[in-house]
Amino acid sequence: MDAMVLLDEMRDLVAPGAFELETPCYVFDPTRVARDYTELKEALGTGLVVSLKANPVLDLLARCGHQFTDGIEIASLGELNLTVGRAAVPRFVTTPAMTSNLAASAIACRSTLVADSLPQLEMILKIAMARRAGVRLALRVNAACLPGTQLPPGARDHFGMAPADVTAALDRVRQADLRIEGLHTFAGSNTFLSCHRQIASGMAALAEQISGHPAAQLSFINLGGGIPADWRNAGIDWPSYRTQLAHLFGSISLLHEAGRAVFTACGRFVVRILGVKQIEGRQYAVCDGGMAHNFLLAQTESLMKRTIAPRVLAADPQTHPTATIRPTVVVGNSCNRADVLGHVQGQPVEEGSLLIFEGCGAYHTYSPNGFLNLKSPRLYVAS
Ligand SMILES: Cc1ncc(COP(=O)(O)O)c(C=O)c1O
Repeated sequence: MDAMVLLDEMRDLVAPGAFELETPCYVFDPTRVARDYTELKEALGTGLVVSLKANPVLDLLARCGHQFTDGIEIASLGELNLTVGRAAVPRFVTTPAMTSNLAASAIACRSTLVADSLPQLEMILKIAMARRAGVRLALRVNAACLPGTQLPPGARDHFGMAPADVTAALDRVRQADLRIEGLHTFAGSNTFLSCHRQIASGMAALAEQISGHPAAQLSFINLGGGIPADWRNAGIDWPSYRTQLAHLFGSISLLHEAGRAVFTACGRFVVRILGVKQIEGRQYAVCDGGMAHNFLLAQTESLMKRTIAPRVLAADPQTHPTATIRPTVVVGNSCNRADVLGHVQGQPVEEGSLLIFEGCGAYHTYSPNGFLNLKSPRLYVAS
């Protein structure tokens, strides 16, 4: 999934340069990542770990990775391999599905392993002992189980351990003559608004409960995130949250982590119109990319549905001044009736024009299939 690098002047995707793009494609802009990362970190007033799953494009990481000084969050061996030798920042490996391969590789490259359960902790310890290797350990706590919290039912999930297991984990780690360096929780994507204050007080209470334990030598607490892509307009009272954190945690080093809030704005998805057709008055633009390339834009799962109006870059406004201006449904190339990417209103659509969807920089790899053997989207980084 290596990306191609575009010249700086292509960043705005205007004609004629944009027509040289091989479509369907994504165009990622590292300057947007840098801006959004820095501004979000400032708003939070804590460290900020970046979730690689939201955008695992190596060329983007090469250009932005040095800024992610607080670390990156990794959930698979594939992600870990992507970063080894390429990102000189801390790594936090967290997944309930950790395999012994992933644990061994994470230990070997001095990542922090965030144990998700007692059996997983046992597996990590066994590997570390067998290799006589030091291991950086943290514990993941289930957000809905934090002391005093009453999170919405949607925030109940299978990640992390209950507080009672945290104590058992500390005992076990002490027995192994090791220590726990951090606590971590994550209540799920887009949960920040409804959960952040409760999570902060629940984590503070838990940290207080375990503070006397000899194996609890916390150098960080990761409060998770679930920060929405449009966090600037989400009505979050940042100053009062920062005050709450300072009051609850004093000098302990705090982290949040984010994927979509850092990457969404950096990416555009671009398709080319292959043809325009009408069925009983309804107009459709059939494109060379669709749900197989950008599952989140397509109208497949109502929970994930996003309807975005793309910008139209006319193939040739001079020679086709009369292209029809009619409401147009933009459809993809997968033979699936749900493969609808969005709608165009008030702009002419014609064969050969480009449709540019903004805000597609996060989770572009969240894609269902190799259905129809359609070619993968091309990835470009504007640099
Ligand atoms: C542990 C953890 N942290 C962070 C994230 C990133 O979520 P988002 O992109 O909504 O910020 C995820 C997403 O699944 C996650 O599982």
